[in-house]
Amino acid sequence: MITIKTPAEIALMREAGRLTAQAMEAVSALICEGISTKELDKCAEDYIITRGGKPSFKGYQGYPGSICASVNDEVVHGIPGSRKLRQGDIISIDMGAIFHGFQGDMARTFAVGQVTDEATRLIAVTKECFEVGMAQARIGNRIGDIGHAVQVLAEGQGYGVVRDLCGHGIGQEMHEDPEVPNFGRAGHGLRLKEGMVLAIEPMINTGTWQVEFLDDGWTVVTGDGGLSGHYENTVAITADGPQILTAL
Ligand code: MF3
Ligand code: CO
Repeated sequence: MITIKTPAEIALMREAGRLTAQAMEAVSALICEGISTKELDKCAEDYIITRGGKPSFKGYQGYPGSICASVNDEVVHGIPGSRKLRQGDIISIDMGAIFHGFQGDMARTFAVGQVTDEATRLIAVTKECFEVGMAQARIGNRIGDIGHAVQVLAEGQGYGVVRDLCGHGIGQEMHEDPEVPNFGRAGHGLRLKEGMVLAIEPMINTGTWQVEFLDDGWTVVTGDGGLSGHYENTVAITADGPQILTAL
């Protein structure tokens, strides 16, 4: 079901989004060679709980962590554990918080120390993919305009756009309708309306768009072992244009 949020509800979602962004900032400050992904998970969990929120991922369909920590060829849904980050890795952190009944959902990809030029470029282009997608999140546009913009940019850079996973509506539930694919046809699909809130989240691979699902039940990896980047914000469609709710 697509839910339309009132301005008052969007204001509440901005509070949930701010808490999520603050937790992301706290985690990002810890990223360095030698830290384990479970330490990052604990940081996020403690940060959110201490401030009266709830980590939305924990227990979601049995998911064991408060964040997803996906390293190098891991696309999304990497489970935090004893793996330690190494110089040259890239790590995508995805996290969500519930606050006053509403959800924030965001993801970023970070470099661990000095990384290759290829990794640096992937991180930058993945962010740009989010930005061009978000720019299409306007009243009267279509859902396909978002994915089309992402796909044109990513494929123009020689990258693959993950198709098996999409962005989504978000509100009191983490995953609401509609699905927000990162590929598609301009001018096609659902018409966007004021008060829709979407998690726009391109997942971009240096090589093939195809992915594999590991038998831990969660981790998604690139089909060819190439690197993957992820950039996500919770975005409200308003009369003033798209507004990022997962902002500090
Ligand atoms: N935040 C992810 C998304 O963007 C979903 C995480 S799945 C979970 O849709 F199980 F880890 F919660
Ligand atoms: Co999401």
